[in-house]
Amino acid sequence: MNNLKINAVNIFMILSSLFGISTVLNASGIVPVPVLQIPGKGSFTLNRATIFQYSFEGEHRENIHSAITRHMELFYGLKPATPAKADRHNKGAIWFNLNPGSGIPAEGYKLEVTKDGIKAEASTPNGLFYAAQSLLQLMPAEQKSLEKIEIQSVKIEDEPRFPWRGLHLDVCRHFMPKEFVLRYLDYMAMHKLNTFHFHLTEDQGWRIEIKKYPRLTEVGSKRKETLIGRNFNPDAKFDGKPHGGFFTQEDIKEIVTYAAKRYITVVPEIEMPGHALAALASYPELGCTGGPYEVATRWGVFNDIMCAGKEGTFEFLEGVLDEVIELFPSKIIHIGGDEAPKHNWKECPLCQERIRKEGLKDEHELQSWFITRIEKYLNSKGRSIIGWDEILEGGLAPNAAVMSWRGEAGGIEAAKSGHYVVMSPGSHCYLDHYQAEPATQPLAIGGFTSLAKIYGYEPVPASLNAEEAKYIMGAQGNVWTEYMPNSAHVEYMVYPRAAALSEVVWSPKESRNYESFMERMQSMIKRYYAYGINFSRIEF
Ligand code: ACM
Ligand code: ZN
Repeated sequence: MNNLKINAVNIFMILSSLFGISTVLNASGIVPVPVLQIPGKGSFTLNRATIFQYSFEGEHRENIHSAITRHMELFYGLKPATPAKADRHNKGAIWFNLNPGSGIPAEGYKLEVTKDGIKAEASTPNGLFYAAQSLLQLMPAEQKSLEKIEIQSVKIEDEPRFPWRGLHLDVCRHFMPKEFVLRYLDYMAMHKLNTFHFHLTEDQGWRIEIKKYPRLTEVGSKRKETLIGRNFNPDAKFDGKPHGGFFTQEDIKEIVTYAAKRYITVVPEIEMPGHALAALASYPELGCTGGPYEVATRWGVFNDIMCAGKEGTFEFLEGVLDEVIELFPSKIIHIGGDEAPKHNWKECPLCQERIRKEGLKDEHELQSWFITRIEKYLNSKGRSIIGWDEILEGGLAPNAAVMSWRGEAGGIEAAKSGHYVVMSPGSHCYLDHYQAEPATQPLAIGGFTSLAKIYGYEPVPASLNAEEAKYIMGAQGNVWTEYMPNSAHVEYMVYPRAAALSEVVWSPKESRNYESFMERMQSMIKRYYAYGINFSRIEF
């Protein structure tokens, strides 16, 4: 089906260039670019009297109609009419048809605009939500009071290339307020991104309330000060200012509900066994040495990690995960697994005893045993795990998915052995990297990932055959906040690069075209202004 559509696009491009309709594919300015768009004649006029009808009622109608209402009120000061129920399209109306028998793939949709009205169809509610997002991008990009809106006739058929279209946020290195997280979800939805990786625990701060372990937030959510400048500067100074913050369970519920209304899954990350100093500072008995430990005030990788020899470590993690799975409906839970130095495990009698008792070869196998034990626990609760690619070392847990960040090798190895993969290589998907000449930019961790570079990312490595390629669930942009002290800075690093990523994960590989993207981004940028997003102006 995809191939047919792509051929149709290609044929259309050829015809349009023959007949000189050169901007035809860009006519709508939709980002990410839909699979197929065929412009029609004339336009539809939407005004205060236009009727919105839905073939269904309930929460999904509410989600879709609210998204439309919010946008139209903010942009045009035009409030759409209260939705009504209809089993067919009526002339002059905008009709959303939820049709499970339509054969349209999950998350996909059809959208048709003619002078006689607008029809959207999908098999799943999220498909109709994305039809609504595209419809909003067919409306004027400028924020301007309007009594009527002209929408060019067009026929769109669309579906995502990948089911995991991810954006990550580290709220640990710098805490980000709930209101900002909600805006972050709004902007994700606008770009048809559907997976929010919420990085909640770290060396520098524990950011989620766990009722069984109150010290995690009483102690672990605060650090006494923060490093100024680069981590590896030996003369580095500290700011002397306490930094803290965490999300209560009520906050988390609000975020998860808000995301669900935008068809975004929130995947929480609880780091283990490394990046755990905030947990160790709260409960020193979790570490090999027993501490004392301090919530980290500088960045990097620390030798103090959770002890794999103590039963108490697993009792603790199971207690934490019990509350986490109550709060997050996501089938997949991220358990971290990255950057866990084995120094302490080599010295620790209990870790060494565990290695002997379990017949393990070394500390890497001990980490694999650790992660597999957590996997079994979560599997018993109906959940599965994903971890950073270090979880391949010492043997991958049987049902684990891998998030490939140290390049693509880990993802390739996992896919070849039949494990699901999310591609997020530092080279292309790290939004904490510089986006322009470093001398012109605020301090960042390093790297260089321009807008064009992320746009050019291909999540399916050429070394995978068609069968193995099916294990690539998608790709994700990662936003580590060591050098992003506030939410405005996060927006500067994320947009417009997340828009490029959205096209990588949504649009057909064959229809990716940077010039077309940049042209369509002219409209998107106007929307960023209207929303007040502090996007990077480097390319615009
Ligand atoms: C990572 O960037 N340490 C996963
Ligand atoms: Zn130990």
